[in-house]
Amino acid sequence: MWEIRGKKLNMLIDEESVAKRVRELAREIERDFSEAESEPVVVGLLKGAFVFVADLIRELRIPVIVDFLWVSSYGQSMESSGVIRIVKDLDTDLEGRWVLLVDDILDTGLTLKEIHTFLKSKRPRVLKTCVFLEKEGRKKVDFDPDYLGFKVPNRFLVGYGLDWGELGRNLKGIYAVEEKG
Ligand code: XMP
Repeated sequence: MWEIRGKKLNMLIDEESVAKRVRELAREIERDFSEAESEPVVVGLLKGAFVFVADLIRELRIPVIVDFLWVSSYGQSMESSGVIRIVKDLDTDLEGRWVLLVDDILDTGLTLKEIHTFLKSKRPRVLKTCVFLEKEGRKKVDFDPDYLGFKVPNRFLVGYGLDWGELGRNLKGIYAVEEKG
């Protein structure tokens, strides 16, 4: 049983199920993106999406450019405000390109919607979104990813890039942090 700082972790999605779903998403994405006129650009959001991006791009059987965007959410609360500050912008010019925005988890959707608007302003030809997890019943904005790995319960999750106070990113499955105890 894994623990972080004395809190037990309950496995929600095991390593094999994660890998299988990543392969399925890659098949869908490569089918849609094979129509692109030039190499698609995969934009991963730091830090949480780095593990998912690393696995996803290696399952894609088409050439892709990979870049990362790092944003932080303004405000002190646990919940995202939807107002973003760019910590690290992209190195790649997106104008006229097919772009796949990749994130780890959709909670209220405020952050991703804002980032989607930001990337749209860079005038890509096509902009699609791939999110590995979506918390059920939490969305506050009208935003649906084009590709989704799993719907998950509204619990605090770690593993596969997701962290609890910077720990847990290296776990191969997805775990819920136990609320009591
Ligand atoms: P919104 O609410 O804007 O937030 O959709 C999305 C971002 O919030 C973080 N987040 C989590 N991080 N475990 C985490 O490690 C979680 O259960 C969790 N829920 C939300 C994450 O950074 C995501 O991109």
